[in-house]
Amino acid sequence: MKKLLLATVISCFSLTAWSADIVLPEALKSGGKPLMSTLAERRTVREFDQKELDKQTLSNLLWSAWGISSVDGKRTIPTARNMQNLDVYVVLSDGTYLYDAQQNKLQEITKTDVRPFIVGEQKFAMNAPVHLLFVAEKDSYGSGAMHAGSAYQNVSLFCTSAGLNQVVRGMINRDALHQALNLPAEKQVLISQAIGYPVLKD
Ligand SMILES: Cc1cc2nc3c(=O)[nH]c(=O)nc-3n(C[C@H](O)[C@H](O)[C@H](O)COP(=O)(O)O)c2cc1C
Repeated sequence: MKKLLLATVISCFSLTAWSADIVLPEALKSGGKPLMSTLAERRTVREFDQKELDKQTLSNLLWSAWGISSVDGKRTIPTARNMQNLDVYVVLSDGTYLYDAQQNKLQEITKTDVRPFIVGEQKFAMNAPVHLLFVAEKDSYGSGAMHAGSAYQNVSLFCTSAGLNQVVRGMINRDALHQALNLPAEKQVLISQAIGYPVLKD
């Protein structure tokens, strides 16, 4: 009995010690720039300040990418047959997380720094405090890539509205990322997006 109690205490302690999920504040779903000006101003900008995004901004950004936007559980982007088969990984300076829209949290996946596999030769991406990785299952007509495209466009528009810089990036080491994130064989890393504040100029 004592052993069982000890084992329970140890396992509870381990969970607390190792679980480093990040709970996000509820996303703000109003405001921002008018749609037509946002569309007119959207641009790829490859310069980032290293300053971290605050949790509220991160929550808003992730909601725009892949959040739940109605009581029946539908998302901010459409998916084929409403399969909702997209995974959005969030790469921060301290690890990689999976965005859990239902719980509005980031579930820790690995502490391994996967940013070298994302940045590669495109060193301008090094300073970005947030990288998104869009992951989906392979299928016969590439719906995963279409879903990723909808999500990164929403993020691009959110960034334009929120005064953030972003670049969609396909030049990533997919095999290394697949391995580092311990993805099953049927999933593939499709594309990335680097996000951050503009560099302040005097
Ligand atoms: C699927 C896709 C992959 C891209 N890959 C890269 C990339 O690896 N590196 C990069 O610097 N820009 C990349 N871009 C950004 C494009 O170069 C950029 O969108 C294009 O030059 C047009 O500029 P705009 O977004 O300001 O309209 C990518 C864009 C898309 C849609």
